[in-house]
Amino acid sequence: MGAGRRCALLLLLWGAARAAAPPLCNVSLEQEPWQRWLPALRHFDPAFLRAALARVIELCTSIVAQDSKGNIYHGRNLDYAFGDILRKITIDVQFMQNGQVAYKGTTFMGYVGLWTGQSPHKFTISGDERAKGRWWENAIAAFLSRNIPVSWLIRDTLSKAADFQAAVLKLAATPIIADVYYIVAGTSPKEGVVITRNRRGPADIWPLEPTAGAWFRVETNYDHWTTPPPFDNRRAAAIKALNATGWENINFETLFQVLSVRPVLNNYTIYTTVMSAAAPDKYMTQIRTLE
Ligand SMILES: *[C@@H]1O[C@H](CO)[C@@H](O)[C@H](O)[C@H]1NC(C)=O
Ligand SMILES: *[C@@H]1O[C@H](CO)[C@@H](O)[C@H](O)[C@H]1NC(C)=O
Ligand SMILES: *[C@@H]1O[C@H](CO)[C@@H](O)[C@H](O)[C@H]1NC(C)=O
Repeated sequence: MGAGRRCALLLLLWGAARAAAPPLCNVSLEQEPWQRWLPALRHFDPAFLRAALARVIELCTSIVAQDSKGNIYHGRNLDYAFGDILRKITIDVQFMQNGQVAYKGTTFMGYVGLWTGQSPHKFTISGDERAKGRWWENAIAAFLSRNIPVSWLIRDTLSKAADFQAAVLKLAATPIIADVYYIVAGTSPKEGVVITRNRRGPADIWPLEPTAGAWFRVETNYDHWTTPPPFDNRRAAAIKALNATGWENINFETLFQVLSVRPVLNNYTIYTTVMSAAAPDKYMTQIRTLE
């Protein structure tokens, strides 16, 4: 049985079990083109699925943090307004090469790009929407340009960049079809950054500065130098929870708790991932549903 079919089966079993962790799938980079998974999606209305996947990323929260010992953690909530179907097709994927995990990510069955991923012992990446430009401007840019989709650049960087610095350079400089925030975390102290992207290049690079007290960076969907609109207080809620946690206490569990504070966690949150490239086996995703 091919990886795609095996994964589709896992997804069906998982749907019945309703566990919080999504299915874990292996995809061989040597054998199976990711696109072959599409037939597994025949249970879903194709037009709806296309529309849903094309508009993934409405709101999101990403956090990079360094603890007092110099360990780096990275967490994210992926939020999407029409999330019911996406909750059902969310998977963790290990991309295998020569029997090893080349890189890993969280995505949707049949979706080629990645919004969340890890290159083991090197770096982790998440992407948050930067709602700038009208949708039709982005659509035209996507159609006319040779620039690549923002979620594909995450995947390409996971597969090719040798280390944290190379990843930051590639994510900052490669032309893409829409504005976005890339959040990148490494394995050594100070290796954490929020990259604010224009289509053509970086608008801003915002690193951790732990020696100056800036042991974390929070990015939602607004440029960090601006004030979010009053109806959206996710940024302040995340900062308050991180302040209350303190850098002596930040770890996988407490970062997950920060990402579970309302409204950082909200009705639209599809999944939460916490990760640390230095401890790749601890990569953890949970599907979120508020009742
Ligand atoms: C994925 O591949 C690894 C390494 O070969 C193996 O240990 C693991 O069981 C595989 N997982 C799945 C879900 O197939
Ligand atoms: C968090 O702590 C920093 C540094 O002490 C402070 O400047 C900031 O106002 C605090 N923010 C919140 C929302 O608690
Ligand atoms: C979230 O969903 C709950 C339950 O459906 C609802 O009562 C609540 O008003 C929703 N909150 C927002 C902010 O939409």
